Amino acid sequence: MSIAEEDVIPFLLRGPGKPFPPPEYAELRQREGLVRAKLPTGVPVWLVTRHEDVRAVLTSPHISSNPNHEGFPRPAKTGGVPSADEVPGWFVSLDSPEHGRFRKALIPEFTVRRVREMRPAIQAVVDRSIDAMLAKGNTADLVADFALSVPSLVISTLLGVPNADRDFFESKTRVLVTISSTDAERDKASEHVLRYLNRLITIRTKRPGDDLISRLIASETMSLQELSGVAMLLLIAGHETTANNIALGAVTLLMNPQWIGDDRVVEELLRLHSVADIVALRVAVEDVEIGGQLIKAGEGIVPLVASANHDEAAFGCPAQFDPSRSARHHVAFGYGVHQCLGQNLVRVEMELAYRTLFDRIPTLEIAQPIEELPFKYDGVLFGLHALPVRW
Ligand code: HEM
Repeated sequence: MSIAEEDVIPFLLRGPGKPFPPPEYAELRQREGLVRAKLPTGVPVWLVTRHEDVRAVLTSPHISSNPNHEGFPRPAKTGGVPSADEVPGWFVSLDSPEHGRFRKALIPEFTVRRVREMRPAIQAVVDRSIDAMLAKGNTADLVADFALSVPSLVISTLLGVPNADRDFFESKTRVLVTISSTDAERDKASEHVLRYLNRLITIRTKRPGDDLISRLIASETMSLQELSGVAMLLLIAGHETTANNIALGAVTLLMNPQWIGDDRVVEELLRLHSVADIVALRVAVEDVEIGGQLIKAGEGIVPLVASANHDEAAFGCPAQFDPSRSARHHVAFGYGVHQCLGQNLVRVEMELAYRTLFDRIPTLEIAQPIEELPFKYDGVLFGLHALPVRW
């Protein structure tokens, strides 16, 4: 299908019965330069669809992540992206050099080595979620009971949320990161979580533990107010993204069972599903040329990560699930200085989640025709609202 320039609204290319990424992306990648499109709010933006161009945008010094700049693309209804003025510590919205202070303080927490040390704790979290599922009977919602609870428990462990508070913290967090929650429910949950995090930070100031919050307090690299923004960012950034990947990946593996048990699936599932398609939003702060197209200062840019990861120029037969390919150059985690801080953690979470799930429940199957599953056509992230399974 051919679509006219100006009629492309990236958020609305998804729809019931349509595959994700939207098939229109293939046509948009063929166009010269970039694609002029508009947001649901009517504001014009540049869409970036090719792998090479997405990487160029995400590394350009003339392009900013700061939503305070005139022309920054604010997605639909809610406004969506806070700036670091609104939420101190929300460093994904900062540019260099300010961004570097936070990034430097956090990098040691997410190295391959540190994440390797966390494997037993992550395994325990995965087992605990499966124990709870098995205890309930022979059916479950794999999104609520597994895909969301694993990242939720992992992030609580990392932040040092005491065991006794886990259920409270997890239930509030779940409201916060679930798209179907109402604004009122989300505001209330957000208030509770922030109040909780502030209390936790105060306690750790007096009685440090072996956790990320205590180490960041000791590092004196940021104010306590910034620390609560950082903790909130980690909580939100790592939650639904990971949950959507775990759930969609489970569907793909159940449809391709010959790959179950092969850890190479993780990288390919990240590429194939690219759930954070419209997350790395940017604005030009100086005139800049990308992909042969002049972007003027003040113009908004939407790099489409899922389109880049399905670009035939970077991945042969991109729609095919082929874990034997080398997919490491995918941009599912973004690229450049803001590249996902949690990526090593995600890889281990996915690896242990799949390995343990299919080991412990070998008869697991989806309890609904695939085409009737409630896919998320309405949110910034792609994924599943629910995944009914039985065994
Ligand atoms: C499959 C799961 C995930 C996906 C697909 C994902 C995707 C992304 C993407 C695309 C970005 C770049 C944003 C930009 O350039 O503006 C990003 C940044 C970020 N992610 Fe993730 N993410 C995932 C999981 C996590 C987890 C588990 C954590 C933490 C525990 C996390 C923490 C962050 C943070 C803090 C940033 C901002 C980094 C910075 O600005 O320097 N993410 N993520």
